[in-house]
Amino acid sequence: MSTPDWGIGQYERTAAQLEPAAVVVVDAAGDLAGRTLVDVGCGTGNAALIAAARGASSIGVDPAARLLEVARGRAAEEALDAHFVAGDAAAVPLPDASADVVVSVFGVIFAPDPAAAAAELVRLAAPGGRILLSAWIPGGAIGDVAGVGRRAVADAMGLPAGPPPFAWHERGALESLFGPLDRRVDVAEHALRFTADSPEAFLAAEYDTHPLWLATGAVLTAAGRADAVLEEARALLVAGNEDPGAFAVTSRYVVASLS
Ligand SMILES: C[S@@+](CC[C@H](N)C(=O)[O-])C[C@H]1O[C@@H](n2cnc3c(N)ncnc32)[C@H](O)[C@@H]1O
Repeated sequence: MSTPDWGIGQYERTAAQLEPAAVVVVDAAGDLAGRTLVDVGCGTGNAALIAAARGASSIGVDPAARLLEVARGRAAEEALDAHFVAGDAAAVPLPDASADVVVSVFGVIFAPDPAAAAAELVRLAAPGGRILLSAWIPGGAIGDVAGVGRRAVADAMGLPAGPPPFAWHERGALESLFGPLDRRVDVAEHALRFTADSPEAFLAAEYDTHPLWLATGAVLTAAGRADAVLEEARALLVAGNEDPGAFAVTSRYVVASLS
């Protein structure tokens, strides 16, 4: 399956769930007044907008045209100094050293060529400028469910399962990318809690609105496998549920600082 367009569905719903992580990443950047921040894989602009509200001049970059439009609307509504341009993590249409801070909140982790994306983040950062990125730690119920979807799509398309995604959450993996680029790696662990009325309600909302689930669902429905995969996903969410009266799952992630 080619890289999906994150503009399909209603990513806005997910962006609201992820906003606390954007706050954590922007907090890690320290004082932003008068500084330029570039947000790579900005989606609907969470981190760029939070930074702009703290006095930064923000530029968000993302391949998804619809999400950039949503981000521009949010910036206009709040009269923030935040601009949004189309681009890929491996090819950002901005000059060298144009950012005092580069952030990527669960964005660069989707780049198909991690080494090219890492080099691009470093290229964008001004001398002394920090790079901060967040990446999920595998193993939670929500990550496991995403893995089920990925494997089922590969299977339905007759493709080999392929290697696991690049380990953006691991210090060693980050050092292999950023060490040769003269960047020191620090990693701090955080957690984000997802909630819903029930595991079934959580899954239905994801399946109906999340861009990756919409892309996955289209392939699985065509292959007659959607019901079986949804049941497998539901069972994982039930097993990982932390709130017997409703639904809650804690997903762990890292914020990596490359200085
Ligand atoms: C999970 S969303 C995160 C969006 C946003 N940072 C947030 O916190 O809500 C992943 C984002 O990465 C973007 N993305 C996917 N592939 C990308 C790539 N190769 N380069 C840059 N961004 C990419 C998607 O379009 C999407 O907006």
